[in-house]
Amino acid sequence: MSSSHTNSVKVTIHPSQFPDVIQRQLIAALRNSCVPPKFLYDSVYQTQKWLNVHQVHSPSRIDSDVTRIYDSVFDVEFAQAKYSEVALIGLGCGGGQKDARCISKLKLATSLLHYVPCDVSQSMTLVARKEVGKKLNYNNVYPLVCDLSESDNLDQLLDDLLPFRHKRIFTFFGMIPNFEPDLIFPKLFRITRDDDKLFISANLVSGDNYQVGVESILSQYDNEETRDWLLSFLVGLGIPMHAGGLFFGIESAGGLLRIVADFRFIHSQVIHIDGEIITFESGQSLRLFYSYRHTEETLNKCLYNHGLKIVCCEISKSGEEGVFVVKRAV
Ligand SMILES: C[S@@+](CC[C@H](N)C(=O)[O-])C[C@H]1O[C@@H](n2cnc3c(N)ncnc32)[C@H](O)[C@@H]1O
Repeated sequence: MSSSHTNSVKVTIHPSQFPDVIQRQLIAALRNSCVPPKFLYDSVYQTQKWLNVHQVHSPSRIDSDVTRIYDSVFDVEFAQAKYSEVALIGLGCGGGQKDARCISKLKLATSLLHYVPCDVSQSMTLVARKEVGKKLNYNNVYPLVCDLSESDNLDQLLDDLLPFRHKRIFTFFGMIPNFEPDLIFPKLFRITRDDDKLFISANLVSGDNYQVGVESILSQYDNEETRDWLLSFLVGLGIPMHAGGLFFGIESAGGLLRIVADFRFIHSQVIHIDGEIITFESGQSLRLFYSYRHTEETLNKCLYNHGLKIVCCEISKSGEEGVFVVKRAV
């Protein structure tokens, strides 16, 4: 590799992640008692906490059959492929492990490969850059910090970042649960062009009974590492952990079930952000986390309703994770 991980790096930052924008959003979210997921990955500290949750609990790290389904879908998709120049764009790249697996397979299908680790968290883009840097020259990696729910010009941004003819392959791994379906599916439709390839993955609910299936996986969320990660957001705001308690539950939203975590204050708290005063009363709840759990059927339906269709898929033996290749239906 000609460039090193310790050299300085050019990172592109979309205005949706400029500090004043983030601060305005944070104040509005706290006043609204609902924290968007993006704030859970913001700092280097939170990134480390989440990477720990991922390492201990993510099926992709602890279930070898889940690793198999990723490799299997990549094999099917790239076995016959020959591309002259390809860009892999990891939307919500996280630590980049899954994108790195994709890169290993994709390297066999092209002689020229570029990687855009795109995430709301700058730290995550750099962790993913390092992970993929084991397989790809750092000069071909273009970290992009961007809030996908607040950016409508991603297409233009990618054209500016990669101003040459190339095949575009997107990954959107583990992201579907973190967004409101009515927001993210239209966005995925707009991002993808007819000849792009889009890989998505999602934690699924196995079994015939949706409610029982979701109940059975609650412990994957209600555990020490996840509590530690979620509470690190409050600690970062100066709210002590003993100000209240964290409660996990299941709720229904728009025909889907989701796991939620709320912090209930037992002592009132006042915090100051950028000269603004935000008060939490005793008894008030702050929504810190939600994660939609799909069945194969609900995912199919959501995609279809937004002009997208599944063209290839693999489900793990546990039935708890699926990898899908998605295209525009029309
Ligand atoms: C559950 S992790 C998935 C990470 C990785 N794709 C994987 O499967 O291991 C969610 C990732 O999405 C990022 N994220 C959350 N909200 C986002 C947003 N609005 N725009 C872009 N990235 C976001 C987080 O920083 C985090 O890295």
